[in-house]
Amino acid sequence: MTILITGANGQFGSELNNILQRGSSELGKLPPVYAGCEVLAVDVDELDITSVDAVDSFFSRHKPDLVFNCAAMTNVDGCESDEETAYRINALGPRNLAIASQRHGSRLLHVSTDYVFRGDGERPYTEHDTPSPNTAYGRTKLAGEKAVLDSCGNSCICRTAWLYGYVGNNFVKTMLRLARENGRLKVVGDQVGNPTSAVDLAYQLALLGASTETGIFHCTCGGEPVSWHAFAERIVERAGLSVPVESCTTDEFPRPARRPAYSALENRHLHDTIGNSMRDWREALDSFMEHYLEQEKTI
Ligand SMILES: NC(=O)c1ccc[n+]([C@@H]2O[C@H](COP(=O)([O-])OP(=O)(O)OC[C@H]3O[C@@H](n4cnc5c(N)ncnc54)[C@H](OP(=O)(O)O)[C@@H]3O)[C@@H](O)[C@H]2O)c1
Repeated sequence: MTILITGANGQFGSELNNILQRGSSELGKLPPVYAGCEVLAVDVDELDITSVDAVDSFFSRHKPDLVFNCAAMTNVDGCESDEETAYRINALGPRNLAIASQRHGSRLLHVSTDYVFRGDGERPYTEHDTPSPNTAYGRTKLAGEKAVLDSCGNSCICRTAWLYGYVGNNFVKTMLRLARENGRLKVVGDQVGNPTSAVDLAYQLALLGASTETGIFHCTCGGEPVSWHAFAERIVERAGLSVPVESCTTDEFPRPARRPAYSALENRHLHDTIGNSMRDWREALDSFMEHYLEQEKTI
């Protein structure tokens, strides 16, 4: 089997590449279908998904059986100030991949986001809830989802949230750095979601990729949804740092793109189909922290 990972240098693409190359993750072995697979892990310098010609010629040359689209413009405020570029990467790019996948008989798994929801609910969103984004990032990601579902029959939309991993910058690393530099933290307490480890998402998507399921899947770590403030408290605690973590409101940290207040997701379709392998967010975070702090010692 030939597997294509786009955006493979990013936070999630690199973790997915890692487990596909190894054939296992800390969560378990990958399904036998992945044994001996060829993984083509490429980023924008090798395959710019916004180029129809580049995508077409890549598919003609390599004929991937399974495609994981991990490429995206993820800078939420950057998307707000340049929605045109965000649309090209987050909507037209997935459309190009979906059309090529349909033409070549490839299966496509496309990663999306909780930000497709408005975030004014009081219970976790399921796959049956109607998206209604209020940021450019969310709008362009939703357009990408629609393009994939419209153009490729054998596809899954995998919505995740509050992602962190070993590669690149993320909330966990930022909290650690600020806690060490400043000896105190002030973190937004009125936005609630599901912190999700790239390790758990990669394993779950490998399982989904090996299945014949299609449609929309919410893929976030479990446990009670939490605020960024509670997430930060757990991070500093696991790092053994005794720094005060003060809670503040979104209005105290104005940003160009207004984040959803409540964008928790429920993995209902995973439960109802192949099973939900994603851990409680605390368990996943604790494992990440243990490995990450070990890694830091060797740098
Ligand atoms: N990060 C989160 O908290 C979060 C939350 C929910 C959902 N998601 C979704 O999860 C997926 C993975 O996110 P991530 O955190 O891994 O993002 P990331 O670290 O920003 O990785 C995205 C990768 O895509 C590459 N890329 C950008 N434009 C491209 C293009 N035109 N063609 C090919 N590659 C391109 C980026 O390269 P450059 O760095 O050079 O631009 C980067 O390597 C995305 O679909 C994102 O929307 C993320």
